[in-house]
Amino acid sequence: MIPLKSEKDLEMLKIAGRILSRVMQRLRESVKAGISTVELDSLAWKLIESEQAIPAFKGYKGYPANICTSINEEIVHGIPSGRRLKEGDIISLDVGINYKGYFSDAAITLGIGRIDSGAKRLIDVTGGALSEGIRKARAGNYLSDISYAVQSYAEAAGFSVVREFVGHGIGNSLHEEPEIPNFGQPHQGPVIKNGMVFAIEPMVNAGTWRSRILENQWTAVTADGELSAHFEHTVAVTDKGPEILTA
Ligand code: MF3
Ligand code: CO
Repeated sequence: MIPLKSEKDLEMLKIAGRILSRVMQRLRESVKAGISTVELDSLAWKLIESEQAIPAFKGYKGYPANICTSINEEIVHGIPSGRRLKEGDIISLDVGINYKGYFSDAAITLGIGRIDSGAKRLIDVTGGALSEGIRKARAGNYLSDISYAVQSYAEAAGFSVVREFVGHGIGNSLHEEPEIPNFGQPHQGPVIKNGMVFAIEPMVNAGTWRSRILENQWTAVTADGELSAHFEHTVAVTDKGPEILTA
């Protein structure tokens, strides 16, 4: 069963969402050539802690860091390290927080300095695919309408969508039912209802959708080494339509 949130739960999830949007904004301002990903991780920890929240990823199934920092061909679950960002790189920052037992989850992909036009287009299309998915997060639609909207938008632009990682329900834990694939046929699966809260998170690749996992057992990279981008928002389904809690 997909949980429906009470008014009180929604109020708390809105707070968790606003905290995370502030954290993401500060991280975005700090991303530049020369900074290392572990420095971004430490900054994230300080920002989250100063909001009386807790990083949601640390320790989740043994994940070793506060945030995920995925560079270039890394799709998701890049582990912060001493690696320094350089001009032309793209980086996805994926951050989840727990505020008093209420979770929010968001991701953005940014270019470092000047990036090539293909990388820029990949980032724009992935953000656009997220927006298209969010538009379908309305009571009465089918869950798979979100999946279909994401996939068709990304593929129409000539890109591919990752299959192995999916969006998810979110609330009193980071991952709740349902799973929200970024591909599929419309009008299938459960019907969306007011009170559902989703983390919608397309991962879009410039080349093949296929991926493999690095030796660290976490980081997914594209099978062909081409670039990948990732955007995510936590979204509540309300009687006024989709409300982006991490905007
Ligand atoms: N946004 C991703 C997800 O919701 C990141 C999870 S990182 C993990 O699955 F460490 F928590 F696995
Ligand atoms: Co997520």
